[in-house]
Amino acid sequence: MHTSHPLQRYWDLAAAAVQGQALDAALELGVLDRLAQPASAAQVAAALALDPAQTGHLLDLLWSMDLLHRVEGDPVLYRCQPQARQYFCQDQPACCADAWRYRRQALERFSAQLGGLLRRDGPRPAPYVQTDAAGWAEAARKQIGQEQRAVAVPAALEALACVPGASDARRILDLGGGPGLIGIALVQANPDASGVVFDWPETAAVARENIARAGLADRLSVLGGDLASDAIGRDYDLIWCSSVLHFLPDPDAALRKMRDALAPGGTLVMAHAEIPADAAAAARVLPYYLPMMMLGRRVTRAGELRQALADCGFADVRGFDSARFPLAPLHVLSARKAAP
Ligand SMILES: C[S@@+](CC[C@H](N)C(=O)[O-])C[C@H]1O[C@@H](n2cnc3c(N)ncnc32)[C@H](O)[C@@H]1O
Repeated sequence: MHTSHPLQRYWDLAAAAVQGQALDAALELGVLDRLAQPASAAQVAAALALDPAQTGHLLDLLWSMDLLHRVEGDPVLYRCQPQARQYFCQDQPACCADAWRYRRQALERFSAQLGGLLRRDGPRPAPYVQTDAAGWAEAARKQIGQEQRAVAVPAALEALACVPGASDARRILDLGGGPGLIGIALVQANPDASGVVFDWPETAAVARENIARAGLADRLSVLGGDLASDAIGRDYDLIWCSSVLHFLPDPDAALRKMRDALAPGGTLVMAHAEIPADAAAAARVLPYYLPMMMLGRRVTRAGELRQALADCGFADVRGFDSARFPLAPLHVLSARKAAP
């Protein structure tokens, strides 16, 4: 039996930077958009004013990464694999090309900072780093919008289908909902449902545009404010809250606020990354969340949020992992506000 050298996975790790940079360049230049139909390297190069020989090398690398078909002959032809087309081509509804480029570049920027953050005399992150509201609004328009549309909305609907009674909820809050596409999908799924998307005012304005575009302004409204200090409404049957607690100075206070905003018997469903106890599972989470942790945000260990919900007085606390969300698996927790 062939076993690779123990160092192979670490060599591969070093080489992944080349693959990432190559895909980034291909997306920036629109290379994949040119390959909806079979084309040679020379044709792609001519269309995009690139060097033909170097374009051939790039296309071979993209082929080795399962992004392209390579059809032997003279000349060799290349064509997008269906999933590469679905998620990386600009004319597709599930396109995540800009979101992927944003994520790669953000991780690369963080990687360059890592050494400095470890040094005693290096730059100190504030204990609670608040991304500014304008930054979140920009993210809602770009990468979070793309990722919600293509990935997070189906993941949230799949997760909620596992929560008894969630599909019957009539009054819904999408808390820290960003562009609001999850709240929109929840209200679209139930003609009797209405609700609210809460986020910073600048981001809530992005959600309002999406709600109007979906023709749901009569059933879904927005509430702009700081979740740490402002009211979030009341009497909800269902609160959905995903990837928000990391950014709050006092997550326990936020849980109490959610509990108080639920109607008696109402359900809270949260989806957040946690650090799993198992090394292999943690390896799927930590590379994406280490930057947050080292920059002063909070990522809980497995079990901590579940305990926090129980401590807050929630009943029937249940949880499961879902690998359907963007970037890394999230732990989905559901909990009920006990009737008085
Ligand atoms: C990582 S995004 C998650 C968006 C969405 N829930 C999702 O899962 O796709 C975090 C969201 O929380 C919002 N947020 C963070 N801190 C907030 C605060 N103090 N008040 C209101 N919204 C906040 C951000 O504006 C952003 O839309």
